[in-house]
Amino acid sequence: MKAVIPAAGLGTRFLPATKAQPKEMLPVFNKPTIQYVVEEAVSSGIDDILIITGKGKRSIEDHFDRSFELEYSLQNSGKTESLQEIEAISEMADIYYVRQKKQKGLGDAISTAKNHVDGEPFAVLLGDTITQSRIPCTKQLMNTFHKHEASTIAIERVPDEKVERYGIIKGNQISEYVYRIEDMVEKPSLEKAPSNLAITGRYILLPEIFDHIKNVEPGVGGEIQLTDAMRTLSEVYGYVFDGKIYDIGNTVEWLKSSIEIALTDDLVKDELKQYLKELLK
Ligand code: UTP
Repeated sequence: MKAVIPAAGLGTRFLPATKAQPKEMLPVFNKPTIQYVVEEAVSSGIDDILIITGKGKRSIEDHFDRSFELEYSLQNSGKTESLQEIEAISEMADIYYVRQKKQKGLGDAISTAKNHVDGEPFAVLLGDTITQSRIPCTKQLMNTFHKHEASTIAIERVPDEKVERYGIIKGNQISEYVYRIEDMVEKPSLEKAPSNLAITGRYILLPEIFDHIKNVEPGVGGEIQLTDAMRTLSEVYGYVFDGKIYDIGNTVEWLKSSIEIALTDDLVKDELKQYLKELLK
């Protein structure tokens, strides 16, 4: 299966940090956000990845490319570990790029992947959303997809105050972790939300989605919403993902993800714990 990573958005919630750099390149602890996303696809068994970029996103391409000057310099100064790490980034997967010319929304971004996915089911991983789990989120989703062979999306239960930030589903629970989705609504108010189950940024989609995207009118924020296109599919499943998800486009979530991931790093966790304890005293 191929993966598609949309990363062309403007990132207005994170201005001014995203004025001259992509939000997908913001570091979470010690790596850019999009590297976690690519690593999730790779550890789910995917080695063909299409990244959807746009104006001002060149640094994403540079990040996954070879950097001969840097490699030469690391080699000459004997920094073997760093050298291996840098080389590994450019060898992780076959990465392709397509540009979304105008930021008309996630649905529009996905439609630029049509030729690349070439009539096959494909995984979508939002470039500004990272997950942490024992089994990679996309792998969990692929396992559920293979049971139904219909479009399947990761969902998570969110507290009331977060409902209006997400696409929310209405569905029938058919097993412990799986819902058959009847409807979905993008960023509803709490009163209008059909549940607390939110669409979280990982999808397996059938190629029929491209025709459905073509037929949707601009929705919330005047954008072509992927949620609106998915609403018109005849069969969609929601899988309650077992793990943690962080939307990096939200400043507090970004900060939380950096702290939580740093707290799992053997080199820094003790110092950070001590610092946090003292800070909160
Ligand atoms: P968001 O919904 O977070 O939108 O996109 P955004 O425009 O990037 O950010 P804000 O809301 O202005 O702060 C979710 C994912 O979809 C991509 C983004 O890059 C992000 O990874 N996206 C969004 C596109 O590729 N194209 C778009 O037109 C919109």
